[in-house]
Amino acid sequence: MSQVKRIGVLTGGGDCPGLNAVIRAVVKTAIKNYGMAVFGIEDGYEGLVFDRFVPLGYEQVHGILTKGGTMLGSSNRANPFKMTYLKNQEKVTEDLSQQACKNFNNHKLDALVVIGGDGTLKIGKDLQDKCGMKMVGVPKTIDNDLSATDVTFGFETAVITATEAIDKLHTTAESHHRVMLVEVMGRDAGWIALYSGISGGADAILIPEIPYYIDKLAAKIERREQYGMKFSIVVVAEGAKPVGGEMSVMKQCDQAWSLPRLGGAAQRVADEVEKLTGKETRVTVLGHIQRGGIPTPFDRNLASRFGVEAVNLLGKGEFGKMVCLRGRDIKSVRIEEAIGRQKLVDPKGEMVMAARALGIDFCSAPEA
Ligand code: F6P
Repeated sequence: MSQVKRIGVLTGGGDCPGLNAVIRAVVKTAIKNYGMAVFGIEDGYEGLVFDRFVPLGYEQVHGILTKGGTMLGSSNRANPFKMTYLKNQEKVTEDLSQQACKNFNNHKLDALVVIGGDGTLKIGKDLQDKCGMKMVGVPKTIDNDLSATDVTFGFETAVITATEAIDKLHTTAESHHRVMLVEVMGRDAGWIALYSGISGGADAILIPEIPYYIDKLAAKIERREQYGMKFSIVVVAEGAKPVGGEMSVMKQCDQAWSLPRLGGAAQRVADEVEKLTGKETRVTVLGHIQRGGIPTPFDRNLASRFGVEAVNLLGKGEFGKMVCLRGRDIKSVRIEEAIGRQKLVDPKGEMVMAARALGIDFCSAPEA
């Protein structure tokens, strides 16, 4: 018999298609296989600190499998160790981790399922170390940049959204003889750009792992023009940067531990391309559209399997672990092994080589 009788579940960080499928799987497995009581914690760690717990049963998770976003709400600012909040109408930042632990104990929880990216999982592990708040992690991100799992749910849905956008932009590009740039998400990783660029038949892909030379992109566009191809499609990862340059940052965040908001990468490229080639160059920024929508069957499957396994780990008393996909199998790794290790595109890897073989330009130095 499992010692774990009452569990909490929270979603932290940016939302991602498939989060609801995980929540549903956690609730169903916990109730059906283990007779556990489940509590949802609203808005990530904010709800843990400010005591926003809601009981979850079959009824609450009915019909959420296909919905994007998270029924629990999320926050990518809330960190119990450095919580910024309004105290007597003044914005303060304080360590409220004791308060989070107190709430966990007051609700008599035995363990927590933490669904999130690198930052969210690290906070969960730190809380476990600080006050014995036992946890298991479920990785999520559309960026697909966590090294401990082969794939994260949400990634495929984002790639499909980006590919469909590229398909649609092709018609205007061809009709108006324009250069069309599509900016996709991914932060430090170029996975969304690479996958959607190949599946959408892009002419060039600019990713953070391969800094670009703008004159090489201009030359590519002009070469195409000489062959009679009067349009070009370029996929620009939001983290793309020129050789010797930096990523394009739209806004620094007010909290020291938050990442800067990226933006403007494609517009920067477009301005220079227009100057160098004289061709009309337009930008489409896909933004949060990539995080929304109905999760694909693959993402729903992966998310559901992750949710089931997370509860199985709790049932077996295997705390401090994160579920992951290895090949076709659901496995788990220790949280320490999972966090802080990004999975980035290998500039010399098979996918980049395949893209190059297809004539897709990365606008890099020949050796990159
Ligand atoms: O990590 C997922 C992601 O969508 C990144 O691709 C992107 O840079 C970031 O989150 C945007 O976060 P926010 O919605 O907080 O601006």
